[in-house]
Amino acid sequence: MAAAGSAVGLGNLWKFPYVTWSNGGGTFVLVYLLAVILLGIPIMMAEILVGRRSQKSPVPAFESLGSKRWTPIGWLGVAAAGVILSYYSVIAGWSLRSFVQCMGWSIHGYQAPAAKAFGLFLANVPMQLGLTLLFSLATALVVYRGVSGGIERTTKLLMPVLFLIMIYLGITAATMSGSGHAARMIFTPHMSRFHPRIVLEAVGQSFFTLSLGLGAMITYGSYLDKKASVFRSAASVVVLDTFVALMACFSMFAIIFSVPGMKEKVGASTVGMLFVTLPGIFYQKMPGGLILAPLFYVLVAFAALTSTISLGEVLVSSFIDYKHWSRRKATIVASSLVFLGSILAALSNGGMKALSTFAFFHDKHGVMATLDYLAANWMLPLGGLGTTLFVGWRLDPLVLQRELGMKKATWLFHAWVWILRVVAPAAIAAILVAVAMGKDFS
Ligand code: PHE
Repeated sequence: MAAAGSAVGLGNLWKFPYVTWSNGGGTFVLVYLLAVILLGIPIMMAEILVGRRSQKSPVPAFESLGSKRWTPIGWLGVAAAGVILSYYSVIAGWSLRSFVQCMGWSIHGYQAPAAKAFGLFLANVPMQLGLTLLFSLATALVVYRGVSGGIERTTKLLMPVLFLIMIYLGITAATMSGSGHAARMIFTPHMSRFHPRIVLEAVGQSFFTLSLGLGAMITYGSYLDKKASVFRSAASVVVLDTFVALMACFSMFAIIFSVPGMKEKVGASTVGMLFVTLPGIFYQKMPGGLILAPLFYVLVAFAALTSTISLGEVLVSSFIDYKHWSRRKATIVASSLVFLGSILAALSNGGMKALSTFAFFHDKHGVMATLDYLAANWMLPLGGLGTTLFVGWRLDPLVLQRELGMKKATWLFHAWVWILRVVAPAAIAAILVAVAMGKDFS
């Protein structure tokens, strides 16, 4: 459940719909689904296995099962966790604002916000910094208290509620006039749109949404019961995660195609899709929306929190293991460092021009988009590449087989090992090289 909590988060609700939109829909979704099945499940199994076998946090895990030579994979993951946490906290803060806004609408009646409202909110510096700070403090507090205990119990209760609301949302969206258009956009691939950059985005998204490539699943794997099935754990996380992502995406697209003026409102800032599109449907189409709208954004914040604590835990457990700091000191140092990055990210959506407009990578403007691109599309796939090579070539297949609880090596086991040895590394490397070398293939 905790692993599912780490996986399901803003990656599903915020990012998947908007990158699917920006990448034109079906082609992206198809490549994404292939990546989830071919890379996601095998690598998730590999990470959980490394964690459970070593009973350690990522960096020492690579050292104890392999040697010091393998630790850079762990450190790359720690760096990626810091980068992601810095901008993720900013977006998580937006859900707090949506919650307050929906409370107001539920009490005083819904009034559609002006088209520019979200852009103004993004450019409001004190607001952005305040919300980010609030969310970062919440993350730090939970990580300081330890991941088990309260958070596990709360996750078990709240995640199912989130799933139920998602299903209800999806059903309501399906009755809207734009639902057919939405389904076609998501599920019809156009091979003419195929492009190595779309493939990199899809692979990056699959790593990001499944919390792979930085050791989060190694950390959580170290807590997994020795009797639990690694395959079943990995597969159920992947299925849940994909379901939530597709549901969120379908609902938002259906609204965009049904409500006049919604396209313009989402407009230039597709980044804010989650926060711009949904309130309208809650208040105008959904019986019970008055209660469900504020509840939904609380759950978004909560889903984000169960993800940020897994990122925070990677950072903090590495500091504890390597610097021998107390949990308290490690949490304070890690959170403060990350918050410095958060300040830059928080001002990069219009708050400060210099931070918002520069573009090192084609259409990625500003600090937040740049950090997201670097972490999700480069650091995570590289970390995943390292992990597949480590598990495929460095670890003994007999050990793998035993850790998976298999008495005999079935053909599925062999297939998995060869995916880790050859297929996954070759695919990831080919995509990274293709994008790094070619400016444009179209
Ligand atoms: N998987 C989380 C999400 O989809 C984000 C995340 C990435 C969490 C990497 C941990 C590690 O929101």
